[in-house]
Amino acid sequence: MIEILNLVKKFKSVDKNNQPTFKIAVDNVTLKIRRNEIFGILGPNGAGKTTLIKMLTGQILPTAGKIFYDGKTFEENKTAIKKMLGVVPQHINFDQDLNVGENLELHARLYGMEKIDRRQRIDKLLSYMELADCKNYSVKKLSGGMKRRLLIARALIHRPQILFLDEPTVALDPQVRRKIWALIEELAKGGVTIILTTHYIEEAEKLCQRTAIINGGKLIAVDSPQNFCDRLGKNSLEDVFVELTGRRNSL
Ligand SMILES: Nc1ncnc2c1ncn2[C@@H]1O[C@H](COP(=O)(O)OP(=O)(O)OP(=O)(O)O)[C@@H](O)[C@H]1O
Ligand SMILES: [Mg+2]
Repeated sequence: MIEILNLVKKFKSVDKNNQPTFKIAVDNVTLKIRRNEIFGILGPNGAGKTTLIKMLTGQILPTAGKIFYDGKTFEENKTAIKKMLGVVPQHINFDQDLNVGENLELHARLYGMEKIDRRQRIDKLLSYMELADCKNYSVKKLSGGMKRRLLIARALIHRPQILFLDEPTVALDPQVRRKIWALIEELAKGGVTIILTTHYIEEAEKLCQRTAIINGGKLIAVDSPQNFCDRLGKNSLEDVFVELTGRRNSL
Protein backbone atom coordinates (compact mmCIF):
# COMPACT_ATOMS: atom_id res chain seq x y z
CA MET A 1 0.00 0.00 0.00
CA ILE A 2 1.19 3.53 -0.79
CA GLU A 3 0.40 6.23 1.70
CA ILE A 4 0.88 9.86 0.75
CA LEU A 5 0.71 12.40 3.58
CA ASN A 6 0.42 16.16 3.06
CA LEU A 7 2.66 16.04 0.01
CA VAL A 8 3.77 19.40 -1.40
CA LYS A 9 5.98 20.38 -4.30
CA LYS A 10 6.90 24.00 -4.89
CA PHE A 11 8.96 25.03 -7.91
CA LYS A 12 10.92 28.26 -8.04
CA SER A 13 9.47 30.52 -10.66
CA VAL A 14 9.27 34.21 -11.62
CA ASP A 15 6.14 36.40 -11.64
CA LYS A 16 5.09 38.84 -14.35
CA ASN A 17 7.38 41.51 -12.86
CA ASN A 18 10.28 39.07 -13.06
CA GLN A 19 10.35 38.73 -9.26
CA PRO A 20 11.17 35.34 -7.76
CA THR A 21 8.09 33.43 -6.66
CA PHE A 22 6.94 29.83 -6.17
CA LYS A 23 4.67 27.66 -8.23
CA ILE A 24 2.83 25.13 -6.05
CA ALA A 25 2.56 22.13 -8.39
CA VAL A 26 1.29 19.70 -5.73
CA ASP A 27 -0.63 21.24 -2.88
CA ASN A 28 -0.93 19.24 0.34
CA VAL A 29 -2.08 15.95 -1.16
CA THR A 30 -3.05 13.12 1.20
CA LEU A 31 -4.00 9.84 -0.41
CA LYS A 32 -3.89 6.07 0.02
CA ILE A 33 -3.40 3.71 -2.91
CA ARG A 34 -4.30 0.12 -2.19
CA ARG A 35 -2.23 -2.89 -3.05
CA ASN A 36 -3.17 -4.42 -6.40
CA GLU A 37 -5.62 -1.75 -7.50
CA ILE A 38 -5.62 0.11 -10.79
CA PHE A 39 -5.61 3.69 -9.57
CA GLY A 40 -6.18 6.62 -11.92
CA ILE A 41 -5.00 10.20 -11.58
CA LEU A 42 -7.15 12.42 -13.73
CA GLY A 43 -6.65 16.13 -14.21
CA PRO A 44 -6.22 18.84 -16.82
CA ASN A 45 -2.87 20.10 -18.16
CA GLY A 46 -0.73 21.49 -15.36
CA ALA A 47 -2.82 19.84 -12.63
CA GLY A 48 0.28 18.32 -11.02
CA LYS A 49 -0.05 14.69 -12.18
CA THR A 50 3.50 14.29 -13.45
CA THR A 51 4.96 16.12 -10.46
CA LEU A 52 3.10 13.75 -8.13
CA ILE A 53 4.35 10.67 -10.03
CA LYS A 54 7.90 12.02 -10.03
CA MET A 55 7.84 12.38 -6.24
CA LEU A 56 6.31 8.91 -5.79
CA THR A 57 9.04 7.37 -7.94
CA GLY A 58 11.96 9.30 -6.47
CA GLN A 59 12.76 11.39 -9.53
CA ILE A 60 12.28 14.62 -7.58
CA LEU A 61 12.19 15.39 -3.87
CA PRO A 62 9.03 16.68 -2.19
CA THR A 63 9.14 20.16 -0.66
CA ALA A 64 7.12 18.80 2.28
CA GLY A 65 5.11 15.75 3.27
CA LYS A 66 5.78 12.03 3.44
CA ILE A 67 5.44 8.97 1.25
CA PHE A 68 5.20 5.45 2.70
CA TYR A 69 5.38 2.14 0.85
CA ASP A 70 3.98 -0.68 2.99
CA GLY A 71 4.48 1.48 6.07
CA LYS A 72 8.14 2.27 5.30
CA THR A 73 9.18 5.82 4.52
CA PHE A 74 10.29 6.25 0.93
CA GLU A 75 12.95 8.72 2.06
CA GLU A 76 14.74 6.16 4.22
CA ASN A 77 14.22 3.07 2.06
CA LYS A 78 14.55 4.52 -1.41
CA THR A 79 16.97 2.01 -2.93
CA ALA A 80 14.98 -1.05 -1.88
CA ILE A 81 11.62 0.48 -2.77
CA LYS A 82 12.76 1.73 -6.18
CA LYS A 83 13.61 -1.85 -7.19
CA MET A 84 9.91 -2.70 -6.91
CA LEU A 85 8.78 0.20 -9.07
CA GLY A 86 8.38 0.45 -12.83
CA VAL A 87 7.95 3.84 -14.46
CA VAL A 88 6.57 4.77 -17.86
CA PRO A 89 7.41 8.48 -18.05
CA GLN A 90 5.30 11.03 -19.91
CA HIS A 91 8.29 12.19 -21.93
CA ILE A 92 10.56 9.89 -23.87
CA ASN A 93 13.93 9.52 -22.19
CA PHE A 94 15.84 6.79 -24.04
CA ASP A 95 19.57 6.84 -24.47
CA GLN A 96 19.62 8.16 -28.04
CA ASP A 97 23.02 6.61 -28.78
CA LEU A 98 21.79 3.08 -28.07
CA ASN A 99 19.51 1.00 -30.22
CA VAL A 100 16.18 -0.47 -29.08
CA GLY A 101 17.61 -3.73 -27.70
CA GLU A 102 20.54 -1.96 -26.06
CA ASN A 103 18.24 0.47 -24.25
CA LEU A 104 16.38 -2.48 -22.73
CA GLU A 105 19.62 -4.32 -21.98
CA LEU A 106 20.98 -1.27 -20.14
CA HIS A 107 17.83 -1.07 -18.03
CA ALA A 108 17.94 -4.80 -17.23
CA ARG A 109 21.58 -4.54 -16.17
CA LEU A 110 20.83 -1.56 -13.95
CA TYR A 111 18.32 -3.78 -12.14
CA GLY A 112 20.91 -6.54 -11.79
CA MET A 113 19.16 -9.16 -13.93
CA GLU A 114 21.06 -12.29 -14.98
CA LYS A 115 22.11 -12.61 -18.61
CA ILE A 116 19.72 -15.40 -19.64
CA ASP A 117 16.78 -13.78 -17.87
CA ARG A 118 17.65 -10.45 -19.50
CA ARG A 119 17.69 -11.89 -23.01
CA GLN A 120 14.47 -13.85 -22.57
CA ARG A 121 12.60 -11.02 -20.95
CA ILE A 122 13.72 -8.46 -23.55
CA ASP A 123 12.67 -10.72 -26.45
CA LYS A 124 9.33 -11.52 -24.81
CA LEU A 125 8.45 -7.89 -24.16
CA LEU A 126 9.63 -6.70 -27.59
CA SER A 127 7.48 -9.36 -29.16
CA TYR A 128 4.46 -8.49 -26.99
CA MET A 129 4.80 -4.83 -27.93
CA GLU A 130 5.18 -5.81 -31.61
CA LEU A 131 8.67 -4.37 -31.70
CA ALA A 132 10.62 -7.60 -32.23
CA ASP A 133 11.66 -6.55 -35.75
CA CYS A 134 12.99 -3.26 -34.40
CA LYS A 135 15.49 -4.68 -31.89
CA ASN A 136 18.47 -3.31 -33.82
CA TYR A 137 16.87 -0.01 -34.84
CA SER A 138 18.17 3.27 -33.56
CA VAL A 139 15.59 4.63 -31.10
CA LYS A 140 15.67 7.87 -33.11
CA LYS A 141 14.02 6.06 -36.01
CA LEU A 142 10.96 4.86 -34.10
CA SER A 143 7.57 6.50 -34.57
CA GLY A 144 5.88 8.19 -31.59
CA GLY A 145 3.66 5.16 -30.97
CA MET A 146 6.61 2.76 -31.19
CA LYS A 147 8.55 4.85 -28.70
CA ARG A 148 5.65 4.76 -26.25
CA ARG A 149 5.40 0.96 -26.60
CA LEU A 150 9.14 0.71 -25.99
CA LEU A 151 8.80 2.85 -22.84
CA ILE A 152 6.23 0.36 -21.54
CA ALA A 153 8.42 -2.63 -22.43
CA ARG A 154 11.35 -1.03 -20.62
CA ALA A 155 9.31 -0.34 -17.49
CA LEU A 156 8.30 -4.01 -17.28
CA ILE A 157 11.72 -5.61 -17.80
CA HIS A 158 12.53 -6.06 -14.10
CA ARG A 159 9.00 -7.33 -13.20
CA PRO A 160 7.93 -4.38 -11.05
CA GLN A 161 5.32 -4.93 -8.34
CA ILE A 162 4.08 -1.36 -8.71
CA LEU A 163 3.83 0.21 -12.13
CA PHE A 164 3.45 3.95 -12.71
CA LEU A 165 2.26 4.99 -16.14
CA ASP A 166 2.21 8.72 -16.94
CA GLU A 167 -0.20 9.03 -19.86
CA PRO A 168 0.57 5.61 -21.30
CA THR A 169 -1.70 5.75 -24.31
CA VAL A 170 -1.25 9.32 -25.48
CA ALA A 171 -0.77 9.43 -29.26
CA LEU A 172 -1.50 5.74 -29.71
CA ASP A 173 -3.98 4.52 -32.28
CA PRO A 174 -7.17 2.88 -30.93
CA GLN A 175 -5.99 -0.66 -31.62
CA VAL A 176 -2.70 -0.22 -29.74
CA ARG A 177 -4.51 1.67 -26.98
CA ARG A 178 -6.82 -1.32 -26.45
CA LYS A 179 -3.82 -3.62 -26.38
CA ILE A 180 -2.18 -1.50 -23.67
CA TRP A 181 -5.46 -1.54 -21.71
CA ALA A 182 -5.52 -5.34 -21.95
CA LEU A 183 -1.91 -5.50 -20.78
CA ILE A 184 -2.64 -3.23 -17.80
CA GLU A 185 -5.60 -5.43 -16.81
CA GLU A 186 -3.48 -8.58 -17.21
CA LEU A 187 -0.69 -7.13 -15.06
CA ALA A 188 -3.21 -6.16 -12.38
CA LYS A 189 -4.63 -9.69 -12.41
CA GLY A 190 -1.08 -10.94 -11.90
CA GLY A 191 -0.80 -8.85 -8.71
CA VAL A 192 0.83 -5.66 -9.99
CA THR A 193 -0.43 -2.37 -8.49
CA ILE A 194 -1.00 0.14 -11.27
CA ILE A 195 -1.04 3.91 -10.97
CA LEU A 196 -1.79 5.75 -14.18
CA THR A 197 -2.37 9.33 -15.16
CA THR A 198 -4.55 10.10 -18.09
CA HIS A 199 -6.36 12.83 -19.97
CA TYR A 200 -8.78 10.29 -21.32
CA ILE A 201 -11.73 10.09 -19.02
CA GLU A 202 -12.95 6.92 -20.74
CA GLU A 203 -9.57 5.33 -20.02
CA ALA A 204 -9.98 5.99 -16.29
CA GLU A 205 -13.58 4.82 -16.46
CA LYS A 206 -12.69 1.58 -18.22
CA LEU A 207 -9.60 0.61 -16.26
CA CYS A 208 -9.52 2.14 -12.81
CA GLN A 209 -11.09 0.81 -9.64
CA ARG A 210 -10.61 4.25 -8.13
CA THR A 211 -9.69 7.61 -9.57
CA ALA A 212 -8.28 10.75 -8.00
CA ILE A 213 -9.33 13.99 -9.63
CA ILE A 214 -6.73 16.72 -9.23
CA ASN A 215 -6.79 20.33 -10.32
CA GLY A 216 -4.36 23.15 -9.60
CA GLY A 217 -2.21 20.76 -7.53
CA LYS A 218 -5.08 20.00 -5.16
CA LEU A 219 -6.77 16.67 -4.68
CA ILE A 220 -10.44 17.36 -5.38
CA ALA A 221 -11.88 13.89 -4.76
CA VAL A 222 -11.12 10.15 -4.86
CA ASP A 223 -13.64 7.43 -5.60
CA SER A 224 -14.63 4.67 -7.98
CA PRO A 225 -16.12 5.89 -11.27
CA GLN A 226 -19.46 4.34 -10.27
CA ASN A 227 -19.52 5.95 -6.81
CA PHE A 228 -18.59 9.31 -8.30
CA CYS A 229 -21.57 9.09 -10.64
CA ASP A 230 -23.94 7.87 -7.90
CA ARG A 231 -22.83 10.50 -5.38
CA LEU A 232 -23.15 13.38 -7.80
CA GLY A 233 -26.13 12.04 -9.71
CA LYS A 234 -24.21 11.95 -12.98
CA ASN A 235 -24.29 9.49 -15.84
CA SER A 236 -20.59 9.42 -16.62
CA LEU A 237 -17.18 10.19 -15.18
CA GLU A 238 -16.98 12.91 -17.84
CA ASP A 239 -19.94 14.73 -16.22
CA VAL A 240 -18.39 14.22 -12.76
CA PHE A 241 -15.15 15.73 -14.03
CA VAL A 242 -16.93 18.80 -15.41
CA GLU A 243 -18.85 19.25 -12.14
CA LEU A 244 -15.75 18.94 -9.93
CA THR A 245 -13.24 20.90 -11.97
CA GLY A 246 -15.40 23.28 -13.97
CA ARG A 247 -13.55 22.04 -17.06
CA ARG A 248 -15.26 20.66 -20.16
CA ASN A 249 -12.67 17.95 -20.63
CA SER A 250 -9.37 17.00 -19.12
CA LEU A 251 -7.18 18.57 -21.82
N1 LIG B 1 10.57 21.75 -13.17
C1 LIG B 1 9.58 22.64 -13.05
N2 LIG B 1 9.85 23.93 -12.77
C2 LIG B 1 8.86 24.85 -12.64
N3 LIG B 1 7.56 24.55 -12.75
C3 LIG B 1 7.23 23.28 -13.02
C4 LIG B 1 8.22 22.27 -13.20
N4 LIG B 1 7.58 21.09 -13.47
C5 LIG B 1 6.27 21.37 -13.47
N5 LIG B 1 6.06 22.67 -13.20
C6 LIG B 1 4.75 23.35 -13.09
O1 LIG B 1 3.98 22.61 -12.14
C7 LIG B 1 2.64 22.51 -12.58
C8 LIG B 1 2.24 21.04 -12.67
O2 LIG B 1 2.95 20.44 -13.73
P1 LIG B 1 2.79 18.89 -14.09
O3 LIG B 1 3.76 18.61 -15.20
O4 LIG B 1 2.93 18.11 -12.86
O5 LIG B 1 1.29 18.83 -14.60
P2 LIG B 1 0.52 17.65 -15.33
O6 LIG B 1 -0.77 17.47 -14.60
O7 LIG B 1 1.39 16.47 -15.48
O8 LIG B 1 0.22 18.32 -16.75
P3 LIG B 1 0.11 17.61 -18.20
O9 LIG B 1 -1.27 17.07 -18.29
O10 LIG B 1 0.31 18.78 -19.14
O11 LIG B 1 1.17 16.58 -18.32
C9 LIG B 1 2.56 23.25 -13.90
O12 LIG B 1 2.10 24.56 -13.66
C10 LIG B 1 3.97 23.27 -14.38
O13 LIG B 1 4.22 24.39 -15.19
MG1 LIG C 1 2.03 15.39 -17.04
